[in-house]
Amino acid sequence: MYNSHMCIFGATSSGKTYMAGHLFASLPNWNIFFNTQFEPVLHKKFGGYEVTGISALTKALEDKHRRIVYTPHSETPQGQQAELSEIIDILFAMGRIFNTKGDRVIWCHLYVDEVHLLSPKKAPFDRLDRVATQGKRFGVIGVFISQRPALVSQTLITQSDKQIIYRCNTYEIPYFERYGYPIADHFDWLDQDYHFILDDGRKITRMNPIKV
Ligand SMILES: Nc1ncnc2c1ncn2[C@@H]1O[C@H](COP(=O)(O)OP(=O)(O)OP(=O)(O)O)[C@@H](O)[C@H]1O
Ligand SMILES: [Mg+2]
Repeated sequence: MYNSHMCIFGATSSGKTYMAGHLFASLPNWNIFFNTQFEPVLHKKFGGYEVTGISALTKALEDKHRRIVYTPHSETPQGQQAELSEIIDILFAMGRIFNTKGDRVIWCHLYVDEVHLLSPKKAPFDRLDRVATQGKRFGVIGVFISQRPALVSQTLITQSDKQIIYRCNTYEIPYFERYGYPIADHFDWLDQDYHFILDDGRKITRMNPIKV
């Protein structure tokens, strides 16, 4: 279930960060949350170890913290991209060490919130897109979270075998329809608080709210 890249989409307050926080807290391997939104819930409720800055992150990894919330120094997309680049380089370098036998063991999930700001459709951010195209080779899985699927880099979406979709704003609907995605079939389901659908690439399943 969790060996493929994942997108979590939905309107504001639909439950995306809560879902990501739940995965972050429960997946057994290493989990790094790039906390673009400066969400306190990730350390307060989901047990994340908070760091800011690359040297603090490196130290936390050395100390074997497995649930790390990285709060960026920068508040601009460009500055955050630079920080995320460094993180991805570190994770790929660690992945090379962990996966020296070429067995592609998944050892890390990298969560990126508000990903349309960091890798927008119109100006994709190559380094993050490389997580989607090459991350598995280094044992790194991406979890891409956004309110605005219509504005997210296409590479991130097409490389994600799993889509978790919450209630979406009406202006996102044409996006799904353009790809022949049967979102309208599930409006009644998604209109209920924190309900979502899980698309694993083969079928779409209606899911009840997660319980944390
Ligand atoms: N499964 C759930 N069960 C109970 N409460 C939930 C659940 N999911 C979310 N909530 C509540 O709804 C609030 C908003 O959810 P969340 O922060 O996940 O929204 P979001 O989709 O990330 O929104 P935004 O795009 O604004 O960041 C949470 O703080 C929590 O109180
Ligand atoms: Mg959120």
